[in-house]
Amino acid sequence: MAIRPILVAPDPVLKQKSAPIEGPVTDAHRALMDDMLETMYDAPGIGLAAIQIGEPVRIIVMDLAREGEPKEPRHFVNPEILWASEELLPYEEGCLSVPDYFDDVERPSRVKIRYLNYQGELIEEDAEGIYAVCIQHEMDHLEGVLFIDRLSRLKREKALTRLKKAKREAAL
Ligand code: NI
Repeated sequence: MAIRPILVAPDPVLKQKSAPIEGPVTDAHRALMDDMLETMYDAPGIGLAAIQIGEPVRIIVMDLAREGEPKEPRHFVNPEILWASEELLPYEEGCLSVPDYFDDVERPSRVKIRYLNYQGELIEEDAEGIYAVCIQHEMDHLEGVLFIDRLSRLKREKALTRLKKAKREAAL
């Protein structure tokens, strides 16, 4: 396992669309998921898409356990949303690729999802609350979409200006 660098916006790689995994889940995919979880725990964060470490494949990891509780790692290969509620709910989101910026995003409050887990088993599940928020946020990454892309243009530009400034300062 290894901690990998997390790409930060604005990075063109984060705008890339991720490709599905063809065929079964292999040890190579599991090794990537292990790296992703280690990277996510180290950051620390609650969700990470493979593209955030520069791998354009449809893989997501997540752990929604509260601090001090036992870890609950979750793995998603080729996740799909089968159904989304009409009811929307605002939730304050952040992203490891958009450090130090948080804002409310409205999304369906409940979704039904299908994915392959770490073992490659096909799972169908209902998600609500923070689980629904997080899986939709991470699945946006697979389409090259960041949560700030769902904000007003003014807010998005404010966030990006701050990130560019931070990058410039880090380069000095
Ligand atoms: Ni994110």
